[in-house]
Amino acid sequence: MISGTGKDAPRRCIGVFDSGLGGLTVVRRLLAELPGEDIVYLGDSARVPYGTKSAQTVRTFAAEDAAWLMRHEPKLVVVACNTASAYAVEHLRATLPVPVVDVIAPGARRAVALAGGRPIGVIATEGTIASGAYQQAVAEAGSTGALLTGSCPLLVPIVEEGRDEDDPIVLAVLSGYLRALQRARPAVMILGCTHYPLLAGAIAKLMGPHVQLVDSGQATALEVAEALATANLRNPRPAGGRLKCHCTDNAERFAAVASRFLGRPVEQVQWVGTDELTGPSPCRSCP
Ligand code: DGL
Repeated sequence: MISGTGKDAPRRCIGVFDSGLGGLTVVRRLLAELPGEDIVYLGDSARVPYGTKSAQTVRTFAAEDAAWLMRHEPKLVVVACNTASAYAVEHLRATLPVPVVDVIAPGARRAVALAGGRPIGVIATEGTIASGAYQQAVAEAGSTGALLTGSCPLLVPIVEEGRDEDDPIVLAVLSGYLRALQRARPAVMILGCTHYPLLAGAIAKLMGPHVQLVDSGQATALEVAEALATANLRNPRPAGGRLKCHCTDNAERFAAVASRFLGRPVEQVQWVGTDELTGPSPCRSCP
């Protein structure tokens, strides 16, 4: 078992995965909150989107992504995908030998605290909404207000394509998806898919200034920091952590959009074939 014990454990990396680029919105917050940590990222861009697939398929993909990350011997795994968090986090927590942090509970807690009993909206993938995970998470966080939900299946492919948020196609799609929520006027709206913060400016403009957006990346980064501190797993290095990105398709496009989003060049996105996700497990070290 790769446990949190051992004197070298704090120097191990944090493993992060998503169906594609979206999880980088969480990585961005992790880099800001924990600048000394090494991060190994896997974006399963060959099999994106997860949000329109069945629970069984998402569970299988998530288990394969996490198993591949385990070859890098992480000290903690972040499921930086709401859909995988909704369908697979319990399975991953039961099977992985390291702490697993999801993106749903931290965002839900933050939204409930901000809403103070007023209505909360959540936009997410079809799978995440259908799973009932947000309904459960806001209830567990003590919400007393209504929860308004909307699924937005086209947004993930739009973000993966690298379209800008002022692109007329993006605005047209968003306007259609957000119409009902605009009428309902929630006080707080959760961006319940890690791809959506890439469109946060356009979403904020369409929803209006009375709606506060919650991007679960920030809350998740704080939860990761706390989990590492509690387990004495914080890297003692104050800065200089390295990010190593991998994706399962189109590394060039991935690198271009990733750099734009992270605000710094993401050199060396390494391609990983999907057969490697299911193949034998050579041991690799952190970046
Ligand atoms: N970033 C993933 C999420 O948070 C996108 C899911 C998808 O690939 O559809 O749900």
